[in-house]
Amino acid sequence: MSEILLQIKNIRKWFNSQEKELMVIDGVSFDVREGEFISILGPSGCGKTTLLRIIAGLEKQDEGEILLRGKSITGPGQDRSMVFQDYALFPWRTVLGNVLFGLEIRKIPKVEALEKAKKFIKLVGLEGFENSYPHELSGGMRQRVAIARALVCEPEILLMDEPLSALDAQTRNVMQSELVRIWQETRKTIIYVTHNIEEAVYLADRIAVLSRRPAKLLDLVEVELERPRNRFSKEFIELRARIFNLIQG
Ligand SMILES: Nc1ncnc2c1ncn2[C@@H]1O[C@H](COP(=O)(O)OP(=O)(O)OP(=O)(O)O)[C@@H](O)[C@H]1O
Ligand SMILES: [Mg+2]
Repeated sequence: MSEILLQIKNIRKWFNSQEKELMVIDGVSFDVREGEFISILGPSGCGKTTLLRIIAGLEKQDEGEILLRGKSITGPGQDRSMVFQDYALFPWRTVLGNVLFGLEIRKIPKVEALEKAKKFIKLVGLEGFENSYPHELSGGMRQRVAIARALVCEPEILLMDEPLSALDAQTRNVMQSELVRIWQETRKTIIYVTHNIEEAVYLADRIAVLSRRPAKLLDLVEVELERPRNRFSKEFIELRARIFNLIQG
């Protein structure tokens, strides 16, 4: 059994909206193991992005704490990289320029930075597109750039917020298996937010299933299906149904 990397302990979060207190997260706790692919699954608006932003250190919880290797998270850090739903690429930079960005900020020497950027562009399957601009790429390719850009800084944890939801169903399936490949090659810990049950069952080792807002942890489901997973197998479909019923309550 791998080590515990991240401990999410009794997180509570309220927002002030129109002078009303809105409770968004209601006491969520679970651990994330080193190297695992864990998905945070829950209905739209339940507080998934908020929880991921708290893990990223971009948002502050009101109660509870998150420990990374035993140390409390108080802000963003190089140990965590985030991939957003809308890619958030720089349109005026090429694929290579986008992937190089984080390395430039960290003042990594040019030759080393170029070598790293090219390595990760290759890993995500974009060799040959180094000089293309985002508007010249398909949605799936843009998300590959976003993944390369997050990985190039070699974080311990990759935080992904519905990164494939803007894609058509077929491209999304291709990208899901690509993501499993990339995860297996890099052995990163991935925390993957989605509201799509099939996606979570396809990708994750474990699924933290959240309730409607305010988010509570309904269950931590182990997905014991071998990879590559077959979306049409009996076990896969049964697990989907079980989680669907769990969320429906
Ligand atoms: N900065 C904010 N100020 C006030 N309310 C907020 C803020 N951010 C989020 N909320 C509210 O918190 C709730 C949860 O939002 P959040 O974005 O975390 O949900 P989500 O589960 O990611 O939803 P989706 O699946 O639609 O992306 C929503 O009701 C939202 O309106
Ligand atoms: Mg969200």
